[in-house]
Amino acid sequence: MSSKPRILVTRRWPAAVEQVLAERFDVTLNEGDVPMTAEGLADALRTYDAVLPTVSDRLPAELFAGGLRAKILGNYGVGYNHIDVAAARAAKIVVTNTPGVLTDCTADIAMTLLLAVARRAGEGERQVRAGEWTGWRPTHMIGSKVTGKTLGIIGFGRIGKVMAKRCHFGFDMDVVFYNRSRIDPAEASRYGARQLDTVEDVLRASDFVSLHCPGGGENRHLINAERLALMKPGAYLINTARGDVIDEAALVAALESGVIRGAGLDVFEAEPNVPERLRRLENVVLLPHLGSATEETRVAMGMKVVVNVTAFFEGREPPDRVA
Ligand code: DGY
Repeated sequence: MSSKPRILVTRRWPAAVEQVLAERFDVTLNEGDVPMTAEGLADALRTYDAVLPTVSDRLPAELFAGGLRAKILGNYGVGYNHIDVAAARAAKIVVTNTPGVLTDCTADIAMTLLLAVARRAGEGERQVRAGEWTGWRPTHMIGSKVTGKTLGIIGFGRIGKVMAKRCHFGFDMDVVFYNRSRIDPAEASRYGARQLDTVEDVLRASDFVSLHCPGGGENRHLINAERLALMKPGAYLINTARGDVIDEAALVAALESGVIRGAGLDVFEAEPNVPERLRRLENVVLLPHLGSATEETRVAMGMKVVVNVTAFFEGREPPDRVA
């Protein structure tokens, strides 16, 4: 019998990372890449030393009850609001995440959505593909200029800062932000940004609002009907953070009635289900949670998990421990 820790990987990971895991651990891979059920995850916590979930696995409090074998959850992703961290901590299970390595690529997807929705790229692409384009004309598919506009950022962590940098230094945008804690103005100005006191101040001031705060907890439905009504009528909302930061039903109503002009969304409240009313709208760009989906980033995320889990089983503190 192997003396290596028994590890379960809940989904397919990049081959290079799976190979390293297989060399170091007694690993069970999910070769079919089939999402695990709640019972499957509960069983994994009872039978493996480590479970390596992704952001699409739900690990609520009830999964942590009873006698568990697992000692660590090496989460593949920076967000961990899908894990009841308090329950994991109570069950003496360490939780780690993968910060830092997906900052650029997530900001790039936010930028992609911002440009695509402002310049109607999704609509235009659909028109060309459908063979419905009748040719250039001065009034065809008029969008909104991006350069020089005001960007409002909610959550000035790693990704928010990089988004600010891209927009200020790349697109001459005035950048304002809301962050729960105060950021040194000198630090903010390195990213071409300035802090405002409230979420409401940012919403009122901005032509584009981009969300970069964690999901869950008090951020659930941070953007609700009342706050959407504070945005400029011509403004756009971009979400690459977590679906539950926006009250999706309120957003659909705001988009349908013209309270705001458009939205670019990479995340949704009940992924992978996207409401039909949202899918019917032309003034939205919808992506299937692609923020970190580059070869470089997905390998780097996996390698971070390897480092965290290896440190744990060698008796060292995992570098990205969150619980
Ligand atoms: C994360 O890591 O939290 C992203 O949402 C997926 O990469």
